[in-house]
Amino acid sequence: MKKITFVCLGNICRSPMAEFVMKDLIKKKNLQNKFIITSAGTSGEHDGEGMHFGTKNKLTNLNIEHQNFVSKKLTQKLCDESDFIITMDNSNFNNVLKNFKNTQNKLLKMTDFASELGYNEVPDPWYSGNFDETYKIISLACNNLLDYILKESKTI
Ligand code: 4NP
Repeated sequence: MKKITFVCLGNICRSPMAEFVMKDLIKKKNLQNKFIITSAGTSGEHDGEGMHFGTKNKLTNLNIEHQNFVSKKLTQKLCDESDFIITMDNSNFNNVLKNFKNTQNKLLKMTDFASELGYNEVPDPWYSGNFDETYKIISLACNNLLDYILKESKTI
């Protein structure tokens, strides 16, 4: 069993999108009993809220299930429980590294799994309003990340 935690700033736009895209992928590959997928934000500013309507609309239009989502702040406990912590931008990456212990060996950047698209960070649709661009990166990265984990982890 592997636990993947996607991390962004607010946990209402990018990391919830990644959480539900990955859950959908895992369901389609019949791997639900091998993975726990969740997401969190570094800010905690939207704790207890639902996801942003732009993320919700995108997932709905793609027929990707996204039930029962509640935004939460990243904690040391969640970091300790996670096998992989996947950050959306450089600020999230540095924040996790600085504020949470023993994360350096499990911390990865989402864009490293979509390198052919040429992004260094997943742009924040909270500012850009472009949920299609965000989805394009997240969708490719989730596919490549899952392949990477399945190859890397002989025993899941
Ligand atoms: P996210 O986007 O980190 O992808 O969830 C944001 C959501 C909220 C804010 C910033 C980014 N905010 O400043 O409230």
